[in-house]
Amino acid sequence: MADPKDENPTPTPLDRQVAENLGVSADDPHTSPANPENRISLERQAADAENAEQILRNVPENIVGVKPRADREPRRKVTRRVGKKVVEVQSTGHSWDGIEEYDNPLPRWWLWTFYVTIAWALAYALAFPAVPLLKGTTQGFLGTTPRDEVAREIQRFDEANAPIETRLAAVDLTEIQGDPDLLNYANNAGAAVFRTYCAQCHGSGAGGNPGYPSLLDNDWLWGGSIEDIHLTVMHGIRSPDDGDTRYSEMPRFGVDGLLEDQQIDEVTQFVLSLSGQPHDQAAAEAGAVVFEEQCIACHAEDGTGDRMQGAPDLTDAVWLYNVNGQADEATIRRIIHDGPFGVMPAWAGRLSESHIRAVATYVHGLGGGE
Ligand code: HEC
Ligand code: HEC
Repeated sequence: MADPKDENPTPTPLDRQVAENLGVSADDPHTSPANPENRISLERQAADAENAEQILRNVPENIVGVKPRADREPRRKVTRRVGKKVVEVQSTGHSWDGIEEYDNPLPRWWLWTFYVTIAWALAYALAFPAVPLLKGTTQGFLGTTPRDEVAREIQRFDEANAPIETRLAAVDLTEIQGDPDLLNYANNAGAAVFRTYCAQCHGSGAGGNPGYPSLLDNDWLWGGSIEDIHLTVMHGIRSPDDGDTRYSEMPRFGVDGLLEDQQIDEVTQFVLSLSGQPHDQAAAEAGAVVFEEQCIACHAEDGTGDRMQGAPDLTDAVWLYNVNGQADEATIRRIIHDGPFGVMPAWAGRLSESHIRAVATYVHGLGGGE
């Protein structure tokens, strides 16, 4: 049986054209497009040729490198208006998924703003200290810095306040109250001093913290007159670096073995009874004896305390060592066992006399002043 491919139907001019395009012979029965047996392979060849051509056209530049100029797609023309002229904008030749990047100039307003910032930076760097050198920096031709300005500003205020500060430091403490100018100045300056140096311990509203007394009430450990407060602030309480500090020391009854554990339990119940807190009646009666023997030298016979020794009143509802402001049995027992030793720093030498007087006046005016 003869192979159908051996017969070659006469190629039409179209067949010849196709054969030529594909680079095959129309007269060879094995390649002629006129032979229906060849159609499938010819169609595939045609598709392959087309694909290859397309792939070459779209090769990404970053893989193959920049295409030779002649092979690039012709640049599309984009124009923009500059004043009255219309100029052509070149493409950068970068194209991503058909989105082209054009080489448009930056907007003028933007460029000018940019130039101004550069000029400003240069001028600033010349005018003020800016460039770091081995030692220090360039000085700048203005010969001044914002830091100097702040210092001058502070000095200006200091000078303006100097007369009233001098007066505040010199007058009798009790006279401040009656002098509206002084009082006003002292209260404002004192509030600032308080926020800076006292609030950490006494609370920003001076309401106190456990171990740090409230300065708002009229319950004073060492006295609430302006002189008392002034002295407390000047020299502190049990302050190790001030020889004139207010000093007293409650014994460490448990730690130093001055009282038995049971006696401490009993006197704790008695202390609770002094201010009407819930307590064990029998233990409190036994504790009363211990109190009489060990405690009245400082806390007084009736338990109301002694300001000469900074010994708190144990009969009121105010507790220096409190839990949420309340008396707390465990805390009271711990204080008797371990002994309290509250330390308040001395401020003489750290604050000026006028500032100490200002903050004393401020504290005195908080509500509990005597
Ligand atoms: C480091 C914490 C601390 C700082 C800071 C501090 N205090 Fe005190 N202050 C105390 C303690 C603790 C006591 C109570 C001492 C005691 O147990 O007797 C106290 C007591 C006082 C008292 C006596 C109260 C009374 O009832 O007699 C006054 C007044 C006072 N402080 C004012 C000030 C002022 C004003 C400042 C800021 C200049 C200040 N304190 C800063 C810890 C501090
Ligand atoms: C030498 C004097 C002295 C003696 C004695 C003394 N105390 Fe005190 N006591 C103080 C002082 C001072 C404070 C305040 C100390 C401080 O703030 O650091 C204090 C504080 C306390 C407190 C805390 C009060 C509060 O408001 O938180 C209790 C409770 C107390 N004493 C009970 C006793 C008992 C009970 C005895 C006897 C067993 C006793 N004290 C003996 C001086 C004394």
